[in-house]
Amino acid sequence: MSAQLAWDGVSHPSALFDVSGRSALVVGATGAFGQMAARALAAGGARLTLTGANREKLEELAKSLRSRGAAVEVVARRPESDDDAGAMVSAAAKAYGRLDILVVASGLNKVAPTVEQPVEDWDAVMSANVKGPWLACRAAGRQFLRQGGGGKIVLLSSTRGRLGHPAGYAAYCPSKAAVDLLAKTLATEWGPQGINVNAIAPTVFRSDLTAWMYAEEGPGAVTRQAMLSRIPLGRLAEPEDFAGALLYLVSRASDFCTGQVLYVDGGYTAG
Ligand SMILES: NC(=O)c1ccc[n+]([C@@H]2O[C@H](COP(=O)([O-])OP(=O)(O)OC[C@H]3O[C@@H](n4cnc5c(N)ncnc54)[C@H](OP(=O)(O)O)[C@@H]3O)[C@@H](O)[C@H]2O)c1
Repeated sequence: MSAQLAWDGVSHPSALFDVSGRSALVVGATGAFGQMAARALAAGGARLTLTGANREKLEELAKSLRSRGAAVEVVARRPESDDDAGAMVSAAAKAYGRLDILVVASGLNKVAPTVEQPVEDWDAVMSANVKGPWLACRAAGRQFLRQGGGGKIVLLSSTRGRLGHPAGYAAYCPSKAAVDLLAKTLATEWGPQGINVNAIAPTVFRSDLTAWMYAEEGPGAVTRQAMLSRIPLGRLAEPEDFAGALLYLVSRASDFCTGQVLYVDGGYTAG
C-alpha cells in the first residue's frame, strides 16, 4: 500500500476520528464494552454488524440503535468456529458491501484457586478469550485482504495481560497476555497491507463480569478498595471511559499506530 498521511496539516483534526459510513463488526456486542462500542460507533455514523449468543439483548440493542437512525445487522452467534466467524464477516459484507472495522469485545473469566480449577475452566477461558478473537481476526483479515487491504482491528486485553493477580486468575491473565501477542503478531503480519491491529487494556469497569466488585460488603468490597488504592485517578471505570480510545483506534487518527496495547486504566499500571 502506498503511504498516505491521515492529516494534511491544515484541516480540522477532528475529521480524523470520522467513522461515518464505515462498516463495523462488533463481536460480543451484548456485553458492557460491546454495547458501548456499538453505541459509540453508531453515534459516529458507522454501519453496524453486532454479534453475541444472547439474541434478546442483541435485538434490544439493535432496536434502540435503529430508532436513532443507525444501520444495524445482527448475527446471534459467538466466534466458536471458522463457520461462526465467517458468517459474521459475511453478514457485514453482504449488508454493506465491505468491512472496515472489527472490534472483539467478547470475553470470559473463571476465577478459582489454581489447585482447584477444573481443566474445563481453563479451556473455556482460552476458547473465549484467545481462540474466539483469533477466529474473528482471521475471518476479518481475509475480508480486508479481499478488499485490497486496509482495515482496523481492536481487541480487548486487560491490565491482567501484564500483571498477575493472586485471586484465582491463572487462566484469565495468560489469556489476556495471549491477546496482547495476537495483536502484535497480526500487526506485523498485516502491516504491509495497511491493516492496523491494536488492543485496549482496561482496568476494572462496570459489567456483568465485575458486578461482584461493586458489592457494598464482602470480598468484592475488599477487592475494590485494594484496586482503588492503586488507581491514581481514584475510581473504577465505566464502559463509556473507553469510547475515546476506541474511536481513536478504529479511525484514521490511528493510521500510524499498530501492534500496541493501550492501557486505559486510570493509571493502574503507571506505578
Ligand atoms: N469488565 C472489566 O472490568 C474488564 C476489565 C479488563 C478487560 N475486560 C475485557 O473486556 C471485554 C469485555 O468485557 P465486559 O466486561 O464488557 O464483558 P461482559 O459484559 O461480561 O460481556 C461479555 C461478552 O462476551 C460474550 N461471551 C460470554 N461468554 C462467552 C464465551 N464463552 N465465548 C464467547 N463470547 C462470550 C458475551 O456475549 P454472549 O453471551 O451474548 O455470547 C458478551 O458479549 C472482555 O474481553 C473482558 O475480558 C473487562
